[in-house]
Amino acid sequence: MALSTRHLLGIKDLSVTDISLILDTAKQFKEVLQRPVKKVPSLRDVTIVNLFYENSTRTRISFELAQKRLSADVISFSTSSSSVSKGETLLDTVNNILSMKVNMVVMRHSASGAPHFLAKHIPAAIINAGDGINEHPTQALLDAYSMIEIFGSLKGLRVAIIGDILHSRVAQSNISLLTKMGAEVVVCGPPTLIPKFIQEAFDVRVEYDLEKALHWCDVANVLRIQLERQNQVLFSSLREYSLAYGINKQRLDRLNKKITIMHPGPINRGVELDSDVADSDQSIILQQVENGVAVRMAALYLLANSTSS
Ligand code: CP
Repeated sequence: MALSTRHLLGIKDLSVTDISLILDTAKQFKEVLQRPVKKVPSLRDVTIVNLFYENSTRTRISFELAQKRLSADVISFSTSSSSVSKGETLLDTVNNILSMKVNMVVMRHSASGAPHFLAKHIPAAIINAGDGINEHPTQALLDAYSMIEIFGSLKGLRVAIIGDILHSRVAQSNISLLTKMGAEVVVCGPPTLIPKFIQEAFDVRVEYDLEKALHWCDVANVLRIQLERQNQVLFSSLREYSLAYGINKQRLDRLNKKITIMHPGPINRGVELDSDVADSDQSIILQQVENGVAVRMAALYLLANSTSS
C-alpha cells in the first residue's frame, strides 16, 4: 500500500487510511528497533536534508536517528551556521541543496505554511517537522501511536488537550488526527488561550474547568505554555496559570481513576506540569519520544515509496 500524498505537510491532508498505514508501518519498525541490529537497508541511496530554521531537541534527533536506522544519507542544516544569516532566501537555500541531488526535505520553520510553500516550488518530498502555530504532524502520529499502545484503539478514547491551545501546532495536529480516528476530544485552558474558531473548525468540546476535564478524560495531553509566541499578556502570571491549570499530584489524587499523562516536550516543570507527575508511572512522556523514531521511520519509508504526485 502507498500513501495518497507525496508530502507530509499536515494531518489535515491525510485520510484515515493514510494514518492507519503510517501507524501500522511504525509498529513493524518498532519491532526492528528492539533487535540487536537496529538498522535496515530500506532507504539506501536516498538522500535526506533536515532543515531546521527553529530550535528542536526531540524532533531533530528523532528524524536523524530514523533516517540513519533506514540507511539513508543524511545532511543536517541549522540556520545559525548557514548562509541564511547572510540573507539567503528559503527558496534559494533549498534549490542549492537540491542541486546536490537530495531526495527528501524535513523542515521546521517558525512561519506557518513554510513547508507548503516549498512543496509548491521544489520537486523533492517534504515532511513538516513543525511550522509556526499550524501543524506538527509527526508529533500527532507518535502521540496516536503511544495511545494505541496503551488503549488498543483511538475509537471512543476520551482525550483532554490542556493548556496553550492558541499557539500550539501540536494541538491542531492532535485534534485533527484524533477526531478523524474516532476519539472524543476536549480542549481545556483559560479562555484567552483557546481560539474562538476551534469549535467551528473541529469536532471538539471546550471546557474551561480543569477539574471537569480531568474527571472526564482517559488521557490528558498537557501542552507547554509557549511564552516565545505570546506577544501580549494572556494570563496574569505563570504562578496563577499553574494554580488554575497546572497538573499536579494533588489534582490527580482527587480523581477516582488513573489517567494517562502525555506531554510533547519540552516541559516547563512547575508551570503546566509538576515533576512528581511528569516522572510518575502515569506519565508516558519518554515512551512518546521512543515511539517517535519508529513513527518517523514509517513516514520516511512510506513517502520515499509514494507513487502519487
Ligand atoms: N515535541 C517537540 O517538537 O520537541 P522539540 O521542539 O524538542 O523538537
